[in-house]
Amino acid sequence: MDIEELKKALEAVLKDVQAKLPQVQNENDFRQFVASVTGRKGTLTALIKKLSDIPQENRPEAGKIINNIKTTIEDEFNRHLEKIKQQTIEKKTTQSLQTDITLPGFRQKAGKLHPLRRTLSEIVHIFSCMGFDIAEGPEVETDWYNFEALGFPPDHPARQMQATFYIRNFRNLLLRTHTSPVQIRHMIKFRPPIKIIAPGVVYRHDDDPSHSPMFTQVEGLVVDDHTTFSDLKGTLEMFLHEMFGHDVPIRFRPSFFPFTEPSGEVDIACPICGIKGREGCSICKGSGWTEILGCGQVDPVVFENVGIDPENYQGYAFGLGVDRIAMFKFGIDSIQHFYKNDPRFLEQF
Ligand code: DAH
Repeated sequence: MDIEELKKALEAVLKDVQAKLPQVQNENDFRQFVASVTGRKGTLTALIKKLSDIPQENRPEAGKIINNIKTTIEDEFNRHLEKIKQQTIEKKTTQSLQTDITLPGFRQKAGKLHPLRRTLSEIVHIFSCMGFDIAEGPEVETDWYNFEALGFPPDHPARQMQATFYIRNFRNLLLRTHTSPVQIRHMIKFRPPIKIIAPGVVYRHDDDPSHSPMFTQVEGLVVDDHTTFSDLKGTLEMFLHEMFGHDVPIRFRPSFFPFTEPSGEVDIACPICGIKGREGCSICKGSGWTEILGCGQVDPVVFENVGIDPENYQGYAFGLGVDRIAMFKFGIDSIQHFYKNDPRFLEQF
């Protein structure tokens, strides 16, 4: 190969690079292309190796030509690489402009407390402020704690009001029908003075708009050497005023429970139509009053059953239905909404 041929071949490589380079669009392709020219088996490298074929006296000139072409090609490469980098940045910027970062994001739905749980917390808070402790008991009870110790002997007619779920094959075991057995458990374990509330779920086989097979109660029990009916009245009035407002009309009615004597029930003015009532009201049935709790002075029989001397101690007890209170507070017409877990209902609180 003489020097003229070498020059032509080098110029051909340069032309080829100039022709093909504009089609190289990304850094990966660029690197491959550079290797095909200046890499170990590249077209330019092959020509540089030919330098040894050139006669000795022409080599310095040939070397200069080679260097010139090589620098030109390398300049072309550098310029093109810059261009590719610039284009990549521009592409990314226009892409991110297509995302409108001012649009509101997708909000995560946060859960919140169930309306029954909220009502229960409020009830517990009010009684805690009045100095009541919290006691708990099991939901599967024995007949003795749920009935007998509370003055319901077998075949007592009052048992029929408590539509009981029994545990199959265990006639003695049942789902507690009220939170009153917690009174018994507590009095067996602790001596007076006692001042507790016992919140919890209870079970009865009732199922209609105002009854659910599972519902929530809060039991109250106060035992001391001098605890009167007027203490009971004052405590409950204070609670109801905190819960429903200080001007809510309240009335006490005589009633019967096997474990209290005397016994009473407490009504508040109908939360839907007020004390005058309205014919056809689903809550008060037109009477203007609605029952909210049962209460009374602890029957001496109960004290005897737990080994507390009724000659030295007196007490009062009460039991309130949390579901009814929540229905009145939130204006809900059916207890069953609380247990359906329908988000359309629950989201409203
Ligand atoms: N345990 C009764 C029930 O579920 C409610 C009740 C009434 C509880 C009077 C009491 C009470 O503590 O004194 O029907």
